[in-house]
Amino acid sequence: MNRRPPCAANASPLLEGRGIGKSFGGLAALAGVDVAVYPGDVVGLIGPNGSGKTTLFNCLTRLDGLDAGRIHFKGVDITDHQPFQVARMGMSRTFQNIRVYRKLTVIENMLLSRQWRGARWPGLLRPSRPEVTERADDLLEFVTLVEQRVDLAGSLSWGQQRLLEIGMALMSDPDLILLDEATSGVNPLLVDAIRDRIMTLNTTHGKTIVLIEHNIELVADLCSRVVVLDHGEKLADGEVGAVLDDPAVSEAYFGRRGLNG
Ligand SMILES: Nc1ncnc2c1ncn2[C@@H]1O[C@H](COP(=O)(O)OP(=O)(O)OP(=O)(O)O)[C@@H](O)[C@H]1O
Ligand SMILES: [Mg+2]
Repeated sequence: MNRRPPCAANASPLLEGRGIGKSFGGLAALAGVDVAVYPGDVVGLIGPNGSGKTTLFNCLTRLDGLDAGRIHFKGVDITDHQPFQVARMGMSRTFQNIRVYRKLTVIENMLLSRQWRGARWPGLLRPSRPEVTERADDLLEFVTLVEQRVDLAGSLSWGQQRLLEIGMALMSDPDLILLDEATSGVNPLLVDAIRDRIMTLNTTHGKTIVLIEHNIELVADLCSRVVVLDHGEKLADGEVGAVLDDPAVSEAYFGRRGLNG
């Protein structure tokens, strides 16, 4: 596997959350979580259902307000930023429940995405500049959706919609990409395509990536570091092999069965 080696421990984090707390009613979805992502890393964020992974993404991208903690991105305190400001700074994401405009074409989704992320309000009716359309087309080629360019997004397979969302997330040319279950519900052939695209984004394009993923084989394959959440707390954080071999992690995930079945 030719992924980048993990970043030197003395580098400054690209993204750092300290003591992140988030409750819904009486339920602590996140109970004081620390997380650091270094430039060039591919970090896996894993944990059982309901352990707080998506909530952590929502906090980091500023979609959810925090009850406690601070978040820094590129050295700037973004705790009080709006999502569009964070996007402009170079952080982009995909969603566990795919968010594409099903009744718009693939290329329209790409163009609209850039306007969502780059401005406070989407300029749906504003014609795109030729260089923006060109960028969208280049990215459609990257996510292997050129042939579907004028198809309605709602007509794409689930895996193709996930690839489209990755393409949309790349329109703003982010430095950091957060992928929430990019392969869940996707057929195995497209899982391979998504795995390959994630690898290329990191190794060829230098993107830093955090991926929430239940496919542990894929995590082992792609990630240099893994963070494990359990009941809103961080259970483990470290080099991928050590974390996946940790009996406490297996226990949290699968009870006594272990990560390898
Ligand atoms: N908007 C919300 N309102 C109320 N409770 C919420 C909300 N969002 C998340 N929760 C709760 O917070 C906890 C963490 O949810 P979260 O979606 O972050 O988990 P997750 O690790 O992403 O799970 P999964 O693997 O199933 O996607 C869960 O108990 C969930 O029910
Ligand atoms: Mg989730």
